[in-house]
Amino acid sequence: MSDDILKVLLNEEQIEKRCIELAEQIESDYEKLHAVPIVVGLLKGSVPFMAELIKRFTFDCEIDFMSVSSYDGTESIGDVRIEKDMDISCRGRHILVVEDIVDTGRTLREVKQMFMNKGATDVKIVSLLDKPERRVVDIKADYVGYTVPNEFVVGYGLDYNQKYRNLPFIGILKPEIYE
Ligand code: IMP
Repeated sequence: MSDDILKVLLNEEQIEKRCIELAEQIESDYEKLHAVPIVVGLLKGSVPFMAELIKRFTFDCEIDFMSVSSYDGTESIGDVRIEKDMDISCRGRHILVVEDIVDTGRTLREVKQMFMNKGATDVKIVSLLDKPERRVVDIKADYVGYTVPNEFVVGYGLDYNQKYRNLPFIGILKPEIYE
């Protein structure tokens, strides 16, 4: 599996270190708001990042997951579909969406809009990675782990056709794997 990786961009230590910083920043913001947010992981890519992040939170929060799909292979098909909804109601709640990567931005724009339509008080986004060169809609994560170049990356939750999510680092996939 590691043979399919062209280059390691971020190792486990770098990711963990950044998660500590992000958790501190998020904690300080929610303390100011006196809110008990629902931390909503977008399945499946956010799972390792979310686990790393929430164990650093010392404030009260609830955890939930939802699954949306917009991707087929390496290209966005632009249409976001809810495949698994949350268990907890988001009405009147502060929502912190946890995402693996913001690419075109379409998924998060739709997800954010959906939460607002359902009556959430506030929606913030934390994403492990940001690939700003690929953005086609105007959306910005409130908290970003690392900005990455315009390459297809895998590992630490990110997949190519459901593989490589279990790699403990973020790496660039060899183009011959998906070309
Ligand atoms: P967006 O709607 O284009 O921002 O796409 C977001 C989703 O696309 C992410 O949650 C990922 O699942 C997937 N994605 C975008 N870029 C990559 C990548 O480089 N590697 C793996 N998945 C990606």
